[in-house]
Amino acid sequence: SSETLILGIETSCDETAASVVRNGTEIVSNVVASQIESHKRFGGVVPEIASRHHVEQMTIVVEEALEKADVTMDEIDAIAVTEGPGLVGALIIGVNAAKAMAFAHQKPLIGVHHIAGHIYANRLIEEMKFPLLSLVVSGGHTELVLMKEHGSFEVIGETRDDAAGEAYDKVARTLGLPYPGGPHIDRLAHEGTPSVKLPRAWLEEGSYDFSFSGLKSAVINTLHNAEQRGEEIDVKDLAASFQESVVEVLTEKAKRAVEEYDVKQLLLAGGVAANKGLRTRLTEMFETSDVELVIPPLSLCTDNAAMIAAAGTVMYEQGKRSTLAMNANPGLML
Ligand code: KG4
Ligand code: ZN
Repeated sequence: SSETLILGIETSCDETAASVVRNGTEIVSNVVASQIESHKRFGGVVPEIASRHHVEQMTIVVEEALEKADVTMDEIDAIAVTEGPGLVGALIIGVNAAKAMAFAHQKPLIGVHHIAGHIYANRLIEEMKFPLLSLVVSGGHTELVLMKEHGSFEVIGETRDDAAGEAYDKVARTLGLPYPGGPHIDRLAHEGTPSVKLPRAWLEEGSYDFSFSGLKSAVINTLHNAEQRGEEIDVKDLAASFQESVVEVLTEKAKRAVEEYDVKQLLLAGGVAANKGLRTRLTEMFETSDVELVIPPLSLCTDNAAMIAAAGTVMYEQGKRSTLAMNANPGLML
């Protein structure tokens, strides 16, 4: 038939996910089994626990995705799976499941880069118009990616230390907030005022790279210094100040890159794209611009398999195939 049905699988971190996507643009089913509750009491993702959950959930999640899509494996054109980057033990579960199914059902196998997936989540809500830029902000990544056509990715800037989400989670931990801390800081930030002076890492003139570890340390120092002096520090104001620094640097660099590369669209991607401050600032920034701003719904910003199927569809149409020799690759390059 003329339609392409791709089964996507994602297990790079703490979500076991499977999805069926039609023609790279339409979600037919999208199942995500989150493990957040199991990792919460440790204050972060425990790799060993993540792997174990993936093993338990993998088959259930795939069956549910096929069932909800009302299709059998026979009707699936190819299996797309996150090959990397991510936690190696977690990736292995998804990759091996995909290989086993591809072998058993004689289906093409496609290894997908996790970040390509985050970017392609946007294609599930809006047509992609090239050239475009994507601001990828997640727990593991902070990158500005230039795309001149489907399947082509040029990283024009990336973090030199912590990812934006990582900084959020570390600051939240210092403030005694539960994991993952991003949403909690976001909420507190809206109740406070950005009155604490914190640094902005602009780096060298013209650089699109990011750095968040200095900011993270500044927040921790501010807190400790106040404690030592016996002063009260308003956590809400500190959260608001931290968020303002992160959002200002992310949005200013994205805006500059959009102008320099003269792109048609700016796509937001990754878990930190759920941040209200970031979404609001970007929306204001591009309100009167000719550049189209695309922000996926929250469910497509955090890890899911529909985004992997969407990116995999383009690779499938471009004739890209992986062999059964494919391995999980935690250091995979975009
Ligand atoms: O993309 P994602 O689900 O997983 C990775 O691939 O890393 O991103 C998870 C990250 C976590 O660090 C979490 O704290 C952050 O996204 N996050 C947020 C918000 N919601 C999730 N950060 C800031 N504000 C939020 N509202
Ligand atoms: Zn992710």
